[in-house]
Amino acid sequence: MKIAYNRNPEAIVKGTNREIAVFSTDGENIDTEVVKSFGDEWLKFHEFSDKSIEKLSNEYFDVLNDSILNKQSYALDIGCGTGRWTKSLATKAGFIEAIDPSDAIFAADKLLGKIDNVRLSKASVETIPFDDNTFDFAMSIGVLHHIPNTQQAMKDCVRKVKKGGYFYCYLYYNLETRGWWFKTLFAISDLIRKVVSKLPSGLKKFICDILTIVIYMPLILWVRFLVLIGLRNIAKKMPLSAYNDKSFFVIRNDALDRFGTKLEHRFSKAEVLEMMENCGLTDIVISPLMPYYHAIGKKI
Ligand SMILES: C[S@@+](CC[C@H](N)C(=O)[O-])C[C@H]1O[C@@H](n2cnc3c(N)ncnc32)[C@H](O)[C@@H]1O
Repeated sequence: MKIAYNRNPEAIVKGTNREIAVFSTDGENIDTEVVKSFGDEWLKFHEFSDKSIEKLSNEYFDVLNDSILNKQSYALDIGCGTGRWTKSLATKAGFIEAIDPSDAIFAADKLLGKIDNVRLSKASVETIPFDDNTFDFAMSIGVLHHIPNTQQAMKDCVRKVKKGGYFYCYLYYNLETRGWWFKTLFAISDLIRKVVSKLPSGLKKFICDILTIVIYMPLILWVRFLVLIGLRNIAKKMPLSAYNDKSFFVIRNDALDRFGTKLEHRFSKAEVLEMMENCGLTDIVISPLMPYYHAIGKKI
């Protein structure tokens, strides 16, 4: 099912389980510091268990069904990071091309082991090494909000999808549905992020571990306590309620993701819809469930 690259790679590097073609990631719409930071992050955090991948992928992929994605689908995962969602996708799609501009691609090679319906390439959203109108399904989870021009990056992804194919994305939401106290806590954490994300890699990881213990865990334990005493509806409104059933490993990783990344954009539901429509997508479904916002659209 896999097709040839539309140009020659700059190099082919031997990973642990497969060869990885390396393409230039030069371009206007990429933040190289962010990419480097993700490379460092994912090389440290890549031991996701199959169980945790399955549990989380059920949340992300609630808007998919067999007619959107199946064993005949040629799929593209843009900004695959450790390849955790590529791994989940590998059980549903025919063949997957997974790309990432950072060294995370080598972590993905390890996590994906000997799975043989995946090819990994080091490339960015602007240098996707495949022709336009190639894929039945393309997805980008937690990536486009870390790119300077999210709308342009989304267009670059959707160009690779065939007419009648689907594009799926997860983009940070702008907390539009939350109360003032939630937004205030977020504004404080955002100030912390602006400082922490500028620290050198080792120190950043150390500070993020401390933040996991002093900020994340107390709030999450509070949420768990509310759930335990039967106040699930109140718990759902608390900050970090999404982590109620997540492992400490996932929480640590997300804290590093949250506080360690210099560039992030956040969007309202209406903005997500508008960006997807601007890419020529129709039949757009934005899941009403967490994580906010994940959405799917069909290319016309
Ligand atoms: C938060 S991680 C998400 C990784 C993976 N999708 C996941 O959810 O586990 C963001 C990823 O986007 C990648 N990225 C950043 N800028 C990019 C760009 N311009 N093109 C493609 N990927 C990019 C990073 O290297 C990083 O692996």
